[in-house]
Amino acid sequence: MIPASVIEEKRDGHTLDPGVLREFLEAYFRGEVPDYQMSAFLMAAYLRGLDDGETDVLVRCMLESGSTLDLSHVPGPRVDKHSTGGVGDKVSLALAPLVAALDVFVPMISGRGLGHTTGTLDKLEAIPGFQTDLSLARFKDVLAKVGCAMVGQTAEIAPLDRRLYALRDVTGTVSAIPLIAASIMSKKLAEGLTGLLLDVKVGSGAFIPEGARAEELARKMVAIGDARGLPTVALLTAMDRPLGRAVGNGLETAEAIRCLRGDGPEDLRELVLVEASEMLRLGHAHFSAEAARRRAEEALASGAALERFVRLVEAQGGDAEVVSHPERLETASAREEVLAETAGRVTEVEPRRLGEGVIALGGGRTMMHQPIDPGVGFEVLVRPGDELTAGDLLGIVHAKDEAGLEIGSEALRGAVRMGEGEPVRRPLVSGRLTA
Ligand code: URA
Repeated sequence: MIPASVIEEKRDGHTLDPGVLREFLEAYFRGEVPDYQMSAFLMAAYLRGLDDGETDVLVRCMLESGSTLDLSHVPGPRVDKHSTGGVGDKVSLALAPLVAALDVFVPMISGRGLGHTTGTLDKLEAIPGFQTDLSLARFKDVLAKVGCAMVGQTAEIAPLDRRLYALRDVTGTVSAIPLIAASIMSKKLAEGLTGLLLDVKVGSGAFIPEGARAEELARKMVAIGDARGLPTVALLTAMDRPLGRAVGNGLETAEAIRCLRGDGPEDLRELVLVEASEMLRLGHAHFSAEAARRRAEEALASGAALERFVRLVEAQGGDAEVVSHPERLETASAREEVLAETAGRVTEVEPRRLGEGVIALGGGRTMMHQPIDPGVGFEVLVRPGDELTAGDLLGIVHAKDEAGLEIGSEALRGAVRMGEGEPVRRPLVSGRLTA
């Protein structure tokens, strides 16, 4: 295998021989192919694509570069959910304990904020004391005792992906469908699951905004799961507006807790229930869609899901009092109400603008390992389609100081578009894909 020839073949649009591609990837992992050659290969793959066979080789090499978790110590199905990332997406925080309350184990391995999106780990860490970097032994123990555990990716899981991802991040090669599909699925396949739910976001706030491309990504990931014996369901869900009202780590955690208490925004509650029903059916196939939905609603209404959340927070070292005293979550010291300057109809609430606003307020990272301020963000109080009069409340900015309030107000005002056109509003769930 000559690395330059592999790059040239892909550059010219040829399909690579599986053995040659494998050798190339393995040599890179051993340090025998340098980053500059891998970067050229990734750009060629980004522009020319990878077919299903090539994607399969990539998945295998990523998976085999690390180890697969053995979670067979828990006496039941193990189902995780992965979201491709959006603004205000705090579903996981309510979903994992809810599904655990339905007798399905949820070993959830999550990420930090990426680009303009916040991450589940950062939201959990807004709870004082909550630890997301558990040892594997402790992760297994929490999973067995609570029914769910929520941690970050460990070094053992798909380390080849970790290196390729870091390279893609700085070479303009993240948003290629086969590369994303292989990256996500290699990590999920390494978790030792019995079922997987994918939440593929569609709309201007998603990494792949266009509906047709998001569907192609979903289809590819479902096919990869199916080919390797992991039952996988993908939902296409709306990200043309933020999910719920809260955007920003601590504010989102508080909103997820409200959802577990049977309160909070309707779109968040609905998506949590839809996803919980899917995960229940992935774990226990005998449930009809209606029965699964009923059971999920009951677990939310009875407080069983909230009780699991409390146990999860305690088991991972966090202050479970936040459930009754949300003011114990990290909060920002300055707040400002932002009002509509004119009357009119809200046509769009742009999620990306708000996500970038959170970063500008210090609630997201511009460099790896940067500390973040968990208290900053937005409460967005209008939705596409709302009719407003001048002086109506658009939302509230949470910032650490006056300068932040100014930055945040501008971002919130910029995100809320008003005018004559039709409101931008995709269905909350626009598609469901299975093998
Ligand atoms: N998330 C991942 O884990 N990998 C990608 O390539 C994109 C998003």
